[in-house]
Amino acid sequence: MIIAANAFIIFLGGYETTSSTLAFLFLELAAHQDVQEKMRDEIKEVYQKYGKMSYEMLQDLTYMDMVIQEILRLYPPFPTIQRMCTKDYHIPGTDVVLEKDTIVVFPTLGLHRDEQYFPDADSFRPCRWSAGAEAAIKAGVYSPFGDGPRYCVGKRFALNQMKCCLVELLSHVRLTPVSKVDEFGRTFVEPRMKPFEVNSRAPMTLHPADSRVTITLL
Ligand code: HEM
Repeated sequence: MIIAANAFIIFLGGYETTSSTLAFLFLELAAHQDVQEKMRDEIKEVYQKYGKMSYEMLQDLTYMDMVIQEILRLYPPFPTIQRMCTKDYHIPGTDVVLEKDTIVVFPTLGLHRDEQYFPDADSFRPCRWSAGAEAAIKAGVYSPFGDGPRYCVGKRFALNQMKCCLVELLSHVRLTPVSKVDEFGRTFVEPRMKPFEVNSRAPMTLHPADSRVTITLL
């Protein structure tokens, strides 16, 4: 039972999470050419410094870190995490007692999109993660990798894996939105005021409802 449970979490945690994060990331990069170009410039600069892809080179991609952090804020693959109370717990300052064996659901996605913690919460703004600005974000409200003793064991691996993919991809191709055709046969790109829609039928993790982008060789 324990082996099966661990195999399940490694498959789910190891594949679903990074693939759905990259799917949302590609959609946002297609919609934000300025961010995509800035990432490409950073990749070129860091390649020149290190000569080849390496662990150290990946750690130097600080703008890419900000972009990934912002994607995980808007689209955390696990929109909630759960805990089961092992004993009765009185929430300080309230008259609420959580009884032993109660399952508590922690609303990761809700907190990530809450205006009181993230102004203009529905917008994709990697600059909110710049060094000074990041410090202003209240502790405990941003937790795409969970929190406490069951924190994601694969975080560092996941970040490096996604960065490797982005370095290779953005060095060779440009991502642009898929255009639509109106009733008169004219092509247009649909304006978007909200985050990309999520497929409500996708199992377990957050997936985009439509993940098509146009890919052009550089
Ligand atoms: C974007 C990528 C990823 C995200 C957002 C993510 C997120 C999470 C979250 C929210 C949890 C639950 C933490 C909690 O309950 O406090 C978790 C647990 C876990 N993750 Fe990840 N994960 C990612 C990638 C990975 C990868 C690549 C692996 C493995 C190679 C992995 C392995 C695990 C395992 C084994 C656990 C269970 C840890 C435990 O229960 O002690 N994750 N992850």
